[in-house]
Amino acid sequence: MPSLPKNRAVEFFDTQFQRQVTATEYALNPFERAILPFVFGEVLDLGCGLGNLAIAAAMQGCRVTALDASPTAIADLARRASEQRLPITAREADLGHFAVEGQFDSVIAIGLFMFFAKDVALEGLARVKELTKPGGIAAVNVLIEGTTYLDMFEPGEYYLFSENELPEFFAGWTPEYLKVESFPAPQETVKRFCTLVARRP
Ligand SMILES: C[S@@+](CC[C@H](N)C(=O)[O-])C[C@H]1O[C@@H](n2cnc3c(N)ncnc32)[C@H](O)[C@@H]1O
Repeated sequence: MPSLPKNRAVEFFDTQFQRQVTATEYALNPFERAILPFVFGEVLDLGCGLGNLAIAAAMQGCRVTALDASPTAIADLARRASEQRLPITAREADLGHFAVEGQFDSVIAIGLFMFFAKDVALEGLARVKELTKPGGIAAVNVLIEGTTYLDMFEPGEYYLFSENELPEFFAGWTPEYLKVESFPAPQETVKRFCTLVARRP
């Protein structure tokens, strides 16, 4: 199947993933580590990257559908899943306009929606809600500060969320985990992320 046309963010990550695959650098990031205990059942991982979370979730008994636009990440995840005989379906998809049907116990989007224009990001978040079964969880992480990090992208191609936007978006759901974290960034700035795990009533 031909690869999808890549945008700047995907090209950036694809190059990073090629380096990580060559170096066999596979580790859960802090956001993935934090949400893993909440993940259960049928899982949809949007913007799965190298799929470290997909692998960890499958190892704890989940069945995972993992989507990303990076051909390197998807090919490598499919290879690892097959070698370890894990129930993971890894598929290339442009999540700027994605067509996923059905509902899942756990819908995950870690570090994805800030790479979309505002309307696309908010549509994506609304889809996350619809795709989560009643009693299931949505686990979302977005950037809320860190313009130097996003400078590499075209203006209008990304969206910096406000600090309360995720919890407000999931109002009425039960918040199981909510954390705002800062990390050092270039030019003595910080990048700040919000991570939310919310359970659908
Ligand atoms: C910051 S990485 C996060 C990866 C993974 N969730 C993690 O936590 O390590 C952002 C991911 O979003 C993917 N991505 C960015 N834009 C995308 C798009 N339009 N469609 C699908 N995936 C996209 C990138 O390829 C990359 O894997």
